[in-house]
Amino acid sequence: MRLILLGPPGSGKGTQAQRVVDTVSVLHLSTGAMFRQAVAESNEVGLQVDPYLKRGELVPDDLVTAVVVNRIDQDDCDSGFLLDGFPRTMGQAEALGQFLEKSSKQLDGVLLSQVSDGEIVDRLSGRRVCTEPDCQKVFHIKYDPSQREGVCDGCGNRLIQREDDQQETVRNRLRIYHEETIPLIEYYRQRSLLKEFDGTGTVEQVGQRLLALIETK
Ligand code: AP5
Repeated sequence: MRLILLGPPGSGKGTQAQRVVDTVSVLHLSTGAMFRQAVAESNEVGLQVDPYLKRGELVPDDLVTAVVVNRIDQDDCDSGFLLDGFPRTMGQAEALGQFLEKSSKQLDGVLLSQVSDGEIVDRLSGRRVCTEPDCQKVFHIKYDPSQREGVCDGCGNRLIQREDDQQETVRNRLRIYHEETIPLIEYYRQRSLLKEFDGTGTVEQVGQRLLALIETK
């Protein structure tokens, strides 16, 4: 199954993707996580994307698309993938479409999480993430706390607030989402790929809605 998880920053894409891969046999590919790992390793991609991540701005299309296309072309993606954070511009969506067509592969669905801007700010201000680049597990101080404060339940490493979760940067990310990513909703709706779900409620409730959508694919 080849799926895209679409939604505003902080709508719970990463949280839900972690749960989906426990149930459905697909690979979770988060461009944000890939970039944060590259930054932690200070490799060539990491050095290029770091300033964009810090400002909450989009990495240029050519660079993101090259990274994603290279990744989904690998053998371990043959059984399917769940893209989280890509595509988020029309240019990226078109490039992905062209790549899949050339490889005689098809998308099975685009799952859109609906969450208001007000709730996004609340979620991102309380988000804590694991500092271990291979883990990057996500928590929330109020809605999804770790068992020990400041310590990851998954690997035991330290939890921090992401640099791009500062209020001003969050506002910038939301503005960019409205300008650059919202047009993709109509793009995929016209291709009969779009399925929307309510991203509010508990993590468990949202997860059940999302899995129900995936099961109808
Ligand atoms: P990326 O990491 O993709 O950031 P994002 O899309 O802004 O998404 P987030 O990771 O912030 O949020 P999420 O939806 O995964 O929410 P989460 O599950 O953590 O990208 C980072 C940066 O990389 C970008 O700004 C850009 O610079 C660059 N980039 C990446 N992809 C790119 C692309 N394609 N093109 C160009 N640049 C790109 O949940 C948020 C919080 O809410 C957590 O604390 C969680 O515990 C909590 N929560 C989750 N669900 C619930 C719930 N139901 N109720 C209450 N709290 C909840």
